Amino acid sequence: MNNGQRYEPLTVPRRVILGPGPSSANPRVLRAMSLPIIGYLDPAFFELLDELSGMLGEVFKTNQRAFAVAGAGSAGMEAGLVSLAQPGDTVIICSYGYFCERQIIMSERLGFNVVPLRTEWGRSMDPHVLADALKEHPETQLVVGIHAETSAGTLHPIAEFARLAHEAGAMFMTDVVTSLAGCELEFDEWDLDFAYSGSQKCLAAPPGISPVALSERGLDYIRNRPKPPTSWYLDLQLIADYWGPDHIAHHTAPVSMIYGLREAVGMALNEGLSARWERHAANASALRAGLRALNLELPVPEDERLDQLTLVRLPKGVDDVKLRNQLLDEYSIEVGRGLGEFAGKIIRVGLMGESCVPANVFALLNALEKILPEHGFEVANGVAAAAASAQLVKQPSPLFTG
Ligand SMILES: Cc1ncc(COP(=O)(O)O)c(C=O)c1O
Repeated sequence: MNNGQRYEPLTVPRRVILGPGPSSANPRVLRAMSLPIIGYLDPAFFELLDELSGMLGEVFKTNQRAFAVAGAGSAGMEAGLVSLAQPGDTVIICSYGYFCERQIIMSERLGFNVVPLRTEWGRSMDPHVLADALKEHPETQLVVGIHAETSAGTLHPIAEFARLAHEAGAMFMTDVVTSLAGCELEFDEWDLDFAYSGSQKCLAAPPGISPVALSERGLDYIRNRPKPPTSWYLDLQLIADYWGPDHIAHHTAPVSMIYGLREAVGMALNEGLSARWERHAANASALRAGLRALNLELPVPEDERLDQLTLVRLPKGVDDVKLRNQLLDEYSIEVGRGLGEFAGKIIRVGLMGESCVPANVFALLNALEKILPEHGFEVANGVAAAAASAQLVKQPSPLFTG
């Protein structure tokens, strides 16, 4: 019973979103999503799928299959796992963060013989750990390793992981949720079998669709496995067949999400992938220069850290929840909390996609400069913005995207 309640059009607060994702979506993407709905089997829609598949191939740098799974990044994760291994198979999961642990949970539910390779959070994994595990488990079917671990702010040598996996006769699947369009990724050159991403980070579209790339080797395996994957919805072969030349019907595609993804990928390609990676690097460098000037500690070593996401250690006595709430309430700035081993010890600052511009770097540094002394951590006035500005002179970034 709604007792005659009238619902006004929805409104939401305006935010500067500098968390681990989602990041802001460009208005051009949101406009595309308000175009009229057409059928998911309409030839005009097939044309759009064909175009988008080629565009995604450019972003993943692959001439093999590129398409999108309907669902969050975790849908891409589960689609890869359920499709590329079978119950009872040995699956090695490199684990150095929260999302690696999610892969382990999914794999256990899928009945795999899971071999977790747990290494230190906040450090890049040494490929020797994987090489040793593969010697111990020559029966391994699949190796899984995340490229950019958002919970730990680290980048990992997945080309080397893939090489080791193939040398041992296994396939290699990776997570590029935070790396796609934000830093170098070469699907074909690095010989990856499956990579899944999310629309909501460096691609600057809303959350809800997972762009993926699949090797011919991976697709052949799924086509020829003795039993089909236990999930029908997330069977990568069925999804690839809908996106392929015959457009064989599967579930109803999320039409508006696909419009949005097309627009976001188009904008990324217009900017140029290298220019986009450089924009992420430039703003991350400016942010770090400012944070260091505030005497804040960045726990991840320089050559192992991500540009898209920076971990900042909270000074003694600074309360995580209070700081983040104050940033949100007083400055409308969202930053991320620490997860797992980092809970309560750090904040995570994302500069991804549309959110990755100098104005946001300065907004956050100014807010921190004002707030930190209120938490008992004294900082010198004006130093953070000056340091960020000096860094941007050396390594400039465009002020706007699109
Ligand atoms: C590295 C990584 N993998 C997977 C995910 C899961 O993505 P989603 O929340 O879209 O399911 C995230 C989300 O932040 C992520 O950062």
